[in-house]
Amino acid sequence: MPNSQPVSPELPPAVCPFSQQAAQGELGDIPSIHGPEFAADPRATYEKLRERGPIVPVEIDKGMYGYITTTYRAALHLLRHTPDLFAKDPHHWVALSSGQVPEDTPAVSMMQPRDNALWLDGMPHTRLRGSITDTVELVDSHALEGAVVRIADTLIDAVADQEEFDLVSAFSDPLPLQVIIEMFGCPPVLGTRMITAIGKLFDAGADAAAANAEIVACCLELIELRRARPSGDATSWLLAHPARLTDAEMVQQILLVAGAGSTPSSNLIANALLLMIDDPAFSGSVYEGVHSVAEAMDQVLWEDPPIANFSPLYARMPETYEGVRLEPGVPILVSFAAANSDPALARFRRAGNRAHLAFSAGVHACPAVDLARVITETAVERILDRLPDLSLAVDRADLVRRPGTFHSGWTALPVVNPPSDPSAPPHPGATTWTPSRPPHRAAPSASIPQPTTFMPKAPGSEQQDQPSR
Ligand code: HEM
Repeated sequence: MPNSQPVSPELPPAVCPFSQQAAQGELGDIPSIHGPEFAADPRATYEKLRERGPIVPVEIDKGMYGYITTTYRAALHLLRHTPDLFAKDPHHWVALSSGQVPEDTPAVSMMQPRDNALWLDGMPHTRLRGSITDTVELVDSHALEGAVVRIADTLIDAVADQEEFDLVSAFSDPLPLQVIIEMFGCPPVLGTRMITAIGKLFDAGADAAAANAEIVACCLELIELRRARPSGDATSWLLAHPARLTDAEMVQQILLVAGAGSTPSSNLIANALLLMIDDPAFSGSVYEGVHSVAEAMDQVLWEDPPIANFSPLYARMPETYEGVRLEPGVPILVSFAAANSDPALARFRRAGNRAHLAFSAGVHACPAVDLARVITETAVERILDRLPDLSLAVDRADLVRRPGTFHSGWTALPVVNPPSDPSAPPHPGATTWTPSRPPHRAAPSASIPQPTTFMPKAPGSEQQDQPSR
């Protein structure tokens, strides 16, 4: 199996001719997949790109060039031939190592090499991914569901009396990260520190470097704590995994799961809530039992996948796919959104069919699909149960998509929350969605609610220092 090293690590990096020619306009007009025009209507861009071919050259970010897939077949071809024909390791990215990518390009931070499962190939990938897969498989989905309900309730309690609030900042953004940090067995104070630092890092302000250092320090504290007192949580299990991760590897895998798990889950919750409160095909029909929340989630995963374009891959050798020549060392983004909207798939795009690529495919496919479904479906069900009369506070046309090429979500979803009528009968949907769920409710005060035990006791653990459900 190919290793994850650059093609010639000792040699000075060659200049990337593709990027050079693209920058000098020698490759003709290259469409861009960044900026407000792309963000306003990404689907229109995918349609135009598809007319040019199954894989086409694009400007990924200002001055950063590569290719993007436009069809389902092309996306699957690349994902299925990773890592034999295509590498995931960004050390293969010639324009990056030769200094041709502008340093201030925001997309660089999403595509640069890191020592975690997402960016490695071959055995190093298999080893790190195995530690994550084995860990997420141990998560007790009932405990997870209970934690999501409790965290959702805390967030909902904070806005339940407000006549208008933003669903994104109040609910869909904070919830998944809080759940994942709790899943890692982070005690409340450390969890709050970590979430504050992650927020500062995302703001990319002057204190971003300090925030990064604080996040690493928090992870190391957590690792120390769980090494001394193993418990039923993801950190304890990762520490006990036969892969014997070093502390540096532990930090990287925790950060990977926190990042890979929270942003797409936040976007899926927001995208699904928008569909359910504003789309005439869904609003009302979920309450009436015509559609289930799971069906609405599937529709969003087909039509507006939370990770729209990602999984940058690098041809190891010059490759030709359906007549398109792919230069080695040039990033090829897999467009999950373009694949899902490929007209060739029209007859498969229906409720219950999960052949979409929202969770990717192949060796780097999302290892936590079941977990992602529990987090997002439970969160959506809970807020619709508690606040069933939400409606958009602005025109749909005035909503602004998140900028950037990779994620698909909304910057804000302002909603009107009419005061509840205490004499009204219970909403018909309330019992349909959560028939078997116990009423997990938390006191609304704690910023990080009390942790749950998520897994069987880790091997060698003497005692649990957290209450078990
Ligand atoms: C709706 C929610 C989610 C979506 C749409 C999603 C989607 C994806 C996609 C498309 C990839 C492939 C990325 C690539 O190849 O570059 C991926 C990878 C990954 N996801 Fe998810 N994900 C979600 C939730 C989660 C959650 C909740 C976790 C963990 C708790 C998680 C952990 C990971 C990890 C560790 C990888 C890297 C796997 C590897 O490279 O081998 N994801 N996810």
